[in-house]
Amino acid sequence: MGGFIILFLLCVLSFQSSVLKVTHARFQATKCGDAGPDIHYPYKIKGQHQHTDSLPGFELLCKDNLTTIHFPSYGDLEVKSISYDTKNIHLLDPKKCVHHVFLNLNLSLTPFHYFYVLKNYTYLNCSTALPPPFVEVPCLSAASYHVYTVDSALPVPGSCEGVKTVAIPFAYSPYLSDSILGLRLTWDMSETEDSKTINHTRGSHTSRNLVIGSSMCVFVMVMLLLISTKIRVAARNNHQKEEQLLHS
Ligand SMILES: *[C@@H]1O[C@H](CO)[C@@H](O)[C@H](O)[C@H]1NC(C)=O
Ligand SMILES: *[C@@H]1O[C@H](CO)[C@@H](O)[C@H](O)[C@H]1NC(C)=O
Ligand SMILES: *[C@@H]1O[C@H](CO)[C@@H](O)[C@H](O)[C@H]1NC(C)=O
Ligand SMILES: *[C@@H]1O[C@H](CO)[C@@H](O)[C@H](O)[C@H]1NC(C)=O
Ligand SMILES: *[C@@H]1O[C@H](CO)[C@@H](O)[C@H](O)[C@H]1NC(C)=O
Repeated sequence: MGGFIILFLLCVLSFQSSVLKVTHARFQATKCGDAGPDIHYPYKIKGQHQHTDSLPGFELLCKDNLTTIHFPSYGDLEVKSISYDTKNIHLLDPKKCVHHVFLNLNLSLTPFHYFYVLKNYTYLNCSTALPPPFVEVPCLSAASYHVYTVDSALPVPGSCEGVKTVAIPFAYSPYLSDSILGLRLTWDMSETEDSKTINHTRGSHTSRNLVIGSSMCVFVMVMLLLISTKIRVAARNNHQKEEQLLHS
């Protein structure tokens, strides 16, 4: 009987671990390149047939060991890291011009928004350089024009043209290493998608599988017990028959 209990436990354990592998496939991370961030739900690599599902807008691209994300309003940005706990995705601009991204990136049809508090700034495009304290954005300026990010309340100087007013995390500053700070986005998942992730995989699924696994194992054990009892009874009958034959 002790043997049966051990067998039963082994059976339940092996069933459990195989099922857990399947349920956790959703959380199984993949990577693009050795140094890339872990990629799992709600993200996925586009075109890769993972067991996992993803949400719309969370498709990443993998090219030459580089993880990128495509925004129709801007283009491709490199994904430096993803923090699933804080829902923070850290991006880098391949052209190394964060204010070019701020100027063009439109997140309104995406699940993302900036991780930081925003303020409205106006981008000015000026034919002549403005005096200090104005500092032009080097990567947006050229010899014949000078681009500035200024407080949106400021009146537009005569030699300038207001390009656009956008809500962005900060104005240009030569002292700010903007490629490190700037491109942090956070994402929204609706309440149900979020709790579904948690309940589904960790809670109800596991306990339901435990019940299914145990019942299957109980069934197998009972069958084995019945068969072995039958064999034993048959053996005893045979034995009795042999004895009767011997006695007669
Ligand atoms: C990607 O990384 C792998 C493993 O480090 C390396 O063998 C391969 O050459 C890399 N491919 C490119 C295109 O850099
Ligand atoms: C962003 O895109 C939405 C939808 O396409 C549009 O309505 C909105 O005006 C755009 N915002 C900016 C700042 O361009
Ligand atoms: C920026 O300006 C727009 C339009 O005036 C306004 O709707 C929005 O709330 C402002 N955003 C911030 C962060 O102040
Ligand atoms: C600024 O103006 C120049 C020409 O006047 C133009 O080529 C350039 O694209 C403009 N830059 C921005 C950021 O609008
Ligand atoms: C997830 O579980 C919580 C509490 O355990 C419950 O309030 C919520 O309705 C569940 N969500 C779903 C989608 O089942």
